[in-house]
Amino acid sequence: MGTLLIQGAQIVTMNDKQNVFTGDLLIKDDRIVGIGEDLSSEGADRVIDARGKVLLPGFIQTHVHLCQTLFRGRADDLELLDWLQQRIWPLEAAHDEESIYYSAMLGIGELISSGTTTLLDMETVHHTDSAFHAIAETGIRAVSGKVMMDHGIEVPAPLQEKTERSLEESVRLLEKWNGYDSGRIQYAFCPRFVVSCTEELLIGVRDLSEQYQVRVHTHASENRGEIEVVERERGMRNIVYLDHIGLAKPNLILAHCIWLDEQEKTIIRERGVKMTHCPGSNLKLASGIAEVPDMLSRHVPVGLGADGAPCNNNLDMFQEMRLAALIQKPIHGPTAMDARTVLRMATMGGAEVLGMEEEIGSLEVGKKADLVLLDLYDFHTFPSHEVDVYSRIVYSATRGNVDTVIIDGKIVMENRVVRTLDRNIVLR
Ligand code: GUN
Ligand code: FE
Repeated sequence: MGTLLIQGAQIVTMNDKQNVFTGDLLIKDDRIVGIGEDLSSEGADRVIDARGKVLLPGFIQTHVHLCQTLFRGRADDLELLDWLQQRIWPLEAAHDEESIYYSAMLGIGELISSGTTTLLDMETVHHTDSAFHAIAETGIRAVSGKVMMDHGIEVPAPLQEKTERSLEESVRLLEKWNGYDSGRIQYAFCPRFVVSCTEELLIGVRDLSEQYQVRVHTHASENRGEIEVVERERGMRNIVYLDHIGLAKPNLILAHCIWLDEQEKTIIRERGVKMTHCPGSNLKLASGIAEVPDMLSRHVPVGLGADGAPCNNNLDMFQEMRLAALIQKPIHGPTAMDARTVLRMATMGGAEVLGMEEEIGSLEVGKKADLVLLDLYDFHTFPSHEVDVYSRIVYSATRGNVDTVIIDGKIVMENRVVRTLDRNIVLR
């Protein structure tokens, strides 16, 4: 792969010191090996002139469903449980090996073209192998897994699965894909949500995730109807139940977490559970507004995710960051979620949620070279204005400003074209 020097960018490091400065960044193979002013270009295999551009860590989306990319555009002004039963599950049931592959390819193309370099994904019951092939080919960093659902409200026949089969199939995929390409791809068990899972399945997931040392990725406390079902069937609040099973541990990542009581917030904090915020989805499905400022003040790691494409519409982290900031303002005031906090959630926050904070999430020597170069060519102010770069990225930038995307030291997008191993996807 060799060495690549990015010269003269405004570098937004997103490290603890929140350094921003104009300088150069040197990549050797898959790692950042130098950051500073005036690094020598001698010996570099390639130099990118980034003067006037902004360089930042790639976005980390900690909750997406690549299999849902083809599901957009249905009349779906529905709440969660109706939406799943009337729209999403029949569509997931109709997927085949090929359609999942294209759904994932399209989704990854959209994610990369809007600056996302790592994702935590949840697939459907069948054909998850196809999504892994798409992940492998595109070069994106990903944690993914087959959805598990062996219980509960009615699902179409092709999605019904037996407990034992669900666990076996998950382990088969894990053994095939976990650690692929030097760990770029990892496996996570994905029980869909408590509503769809027997206790036996959840206990199996607990034991297997411990045995294989992998993450567990699920939805929790997203919708009041969902919580009612959990309380009726299990006699406990959602997070209390997950703790009762023994799943509330640092490898557990919960999408949404909107309706939490004090006891549940304490469990999340004390057990080291991670949370993903999906503001676009939470608005679209009328689920609610998650108490993110409160969870951050309790030092719970919080990441950001678009959820499935029908929820966000284009898997765009810029849109998600903007919504994350805006929805808190009328409730908690203008600084409750400031631009820097939101950009941190989209980068280092995501790395913490995945337990990858030593590897990704900020621009530092020794970390993986996962980065995004923005060209804010369409951004104009008085020349004398002092521009706050965080505000500029969170409130003004769009996917059209994404110039170059690098993952694991490889250029996966350049000149608006996302590259894959054997084909190019042109997105606009
Ligand atoms: N809860 C259970 N399944 C899903 C899903 O596919 N999307 C969302 N947003 N919530 C869920
Ligand atoms: Fe989801």
